[in-house]
Amino acid sequence: MTGPAVVVGGSGGIGWALVETLLAEGKHAPVFVLSRQRPANWRDDPRLVWLAVDLLDEASLATAAGEIRASGEPSLILVATGVLQTGDLVPEKSMRALDLDRLTRIFQINAVGPALVAKHLLPLTPRDRRSVLAVLSARVGSIGDNQLGGWYGYRASKAALNMLLRTLAIEHRRTRPMGLCVALHPGTVETTLSAPFPTTAPGKVRLTPGRSARALLGVLGKLGPEANGGFYAWDGQPIAW
Ligand SMILES: NC(=O)c1ccc[n+]([C@@H]2O[C@H](COP(=O)([O-])OP(=O)(O)OC[C@H]3O[C@@H](n4cnc5c(N)ncnc54)[C@H](OP(=O)(O)O)[C@@H]3O)[C@@H](O)[C@H]2O)c1
Repeated sequence: MTGPAVVVGGSGGIGWALVETLLAEGKHAPVFVLSRQRPANWRDDPRLVWLAVDLLDEASLATAAGEIRASGEPSLILVATGVLQTGDLVPEKSMRALDLDRLTRIFQINAVGPALVAKHLLPLTPRDRRSVLAVLSARVGSIGDNQLGGWYGYRASKAALNMLLRTLAIEHRRTRPMGLCVALHPGTVETTLSAPFPTTAPGKVRLTPGRSARALLGVLGKLGPEANGGFYAWDGQPIAW
């Protein structure tokens, strides 16, 4: 047993699948699930602990960190939060749709929130053994991969998340030589987030949340120390920044 694991955004499609996969693997206990509301699929399991956290309420993160610290040093922290479309937040097709309030909100949720999670949870990780913090980014946040344009806020907020992650990774390594911080692309996954955007490209795979979660945990299990600060897809391939 390698101690506690934490899944932030456990109420989401991929987040809950990560929780289920961790329980099935049985390597971590307890599994802390952090989300604004208790996940809809919640079930009674003595290994599961739910903590109410809103990414945009730093006090809730500090309280959760205190609860986690009391049960041991987490060696796995997965951040599966994020937003693409909600309410009046809609992916922009044109520069005409750029809006100060909407851009600010998507940056807060997709980039600032996960960085605040890292601020509060990375100091809890062990100094004397391997640990992993992985944030779910998105391939469309790759600047080098951007051939299509559009989705300004989502793309830019994920690019900002990637830079925050890379910078956190460098600082974290100074005190945790075996600590890894990485960004992951989970694939195109059948969740609430992707539902409004059916894939039409020929040959493009659409993963179930379970398949994505198992693949992501498989990738994390294989990464060596040199992977710190990197950006990887669900199939293990590195992604250009
Ligand atoms: N699905 C895909 O095809 C795909 C592709 C590439 C990347 N991703 C990335 O993978 C991650 C997970 O996506 P998903 O498909 O699982 O989406 P999802 O089902 O919509 O889940 C999103 C999660 O983010 C949480 N969240 C949003 N705002 C929050 C806040 N202020 N505080 C706390 N939690 C908040 C949601 O919690 P609430 O329930 O409280 O709203 C939910 O748990 C995201 O970062 C997404 O960008 C997904």
